[in-house]
Amino acid sequence: MMNFKWNTEMPATTVHTCSLRTEQSVWLDIISDGWEHPFLIIDSEVRRLWDSLLQPAIASASGLYVMEAREVLKNTFTLSQIWDSMSAAGIHRDTPVVVVGGGLVCDIGAMAASTYLRGLRLMLVPTTLLCMVDACLGGKTGVNLAGAKNQVGTFNPAEKILIAPDFLDTLPDREFRSGIAEIVKTALIGDRSIQGLLELIDIEKPDKNNILKIIHKCIEVKGGIVALDLRETGNRMLLNLGHTIGHALEGASEFRLTHGEAVGLGLLGEAAIAVSRGGNRNLPEEIRRMLKQAGLPTSVDNMISGEKLSRLFERDKKTRKNGRIWALPFDWCDCRLTYLSPDQEEKVLPSVLNLLKV
Ligand SMILES: NC(=O)c1ccc[n+]([C@@H]2O[C@H](COP(=O)([O-])OP(=O)(O)OC[C@H]3O[C@@H](n4cnc5c(N)ncnc54)[C@H](O)[C@@H]3O)[C@@H](O)[C@H]2O)c1
Repeated sequence: MMNFKWNTEMPATTVHTCSLRTEQSVWLDIISDGWEHPFLIIDSEVRRLWDSLLQPAIASASGLYVMEAREVLKNTFTLSQIWDSMSAAGIHRDTPVVVVGGGLVCDIGAMAASTYLRGLRLMLVPTTLLCMVDACLGGKTGVNLAGAKNQVGTFNPAEKILIAPDFLDTLPDREFRSGIAEIVKTALIGDRSIQGLLELIDIEKPDKNNILKIIHKCIEVKGGIVALDLRETGNRMLLNLGHTIGHALEGASEFRLTHGEAVGLGLLGEAAIAVSRGGNRNLPEEIRRMLKQAGLPTSVDNMISGEKLSRLFERDKKTRKNGRIWALPFDWCDCRLTYLSPDQEEKVLPSVLNLLKV
């Protein structure tokens, strides 16, 4: 069990790991021990694939909302449907919310929990690699607006996170690979030893112990940063590494790229920007090699123009009146928050786009 206290009045988060195969009852213990009769929000694919495991929880739930995990549905309309469903179920301020799904369902489910009746207790049960290593921790909730990522949201850390790597048994390869992009990001920010563990991963048949080690390391790096800056007024912005270009690419591709694929490309592009400012010249190639090894894309097609990207950058949450704060990887464990003015961006972005189009 890991415990994280935040530098605000928010409740601490405890992270538990468990196996679903050998300890079926753990799941039930978790949703009983103080979490009886929760309002459940579940990814529809997870519900389909894990129905028998989920049945007891569903049977005892105060209410249920099942949603398809598609970026085009991560919006205020779906959020208001969840609120309606909570209202129809007649839940109260003491009804806990349990969200079971990947980063998408966790983001919107956590937002519903943090806003309905001004906030309900929250447990997250991540079911994708990306969510286990990153999205479940740190309290960012959100929905997209007009094609731009996570424009509306809150900071609402879950009180409890239950990580069961067994859920990964049914995760499609492409989604597993997406999770690796966030792992590469975390390794670059704060723990190079993760790189060695990543090299041992056989995507076709990943070793659970190795995966669990990686999850622990990623959670430690992210938890350590977020604990000092929950509301992202300073160093937490480092966790946006890969995401300025990544979010723009994700939007520009109309979500044909997964979040992880876009972040991987973002890491590459942002490493190139760092090189133009004195960063390690070998880093873009090292990142490209890691992405390739994981079967992640290392280039985009021509549908993405510099103009479209610039428009999407304008909607990035790190944008200020006169430019943007970028998290740039100068080297392993040397990522720096760097302000770039519009002029500086204009100079550097064409070469970054060229790098991504090779
Ligand atoms: N809050 C944060 O800090 C944070 C961090 C990173 C990403 N995110 C958000 O997370 C989202 C991406 O999340 P994701 O990569 O976890 O993907 P996802 O939640 O979009 O799920 C991807 C696909 O996997 C399916 N799926 C989920 N679990 C499964 C399982 N166990 N077996 C089979 N299929 C399964 C889903 O139905 C979906 O089709 C983005 O919206 C991104 O903005 C949030």
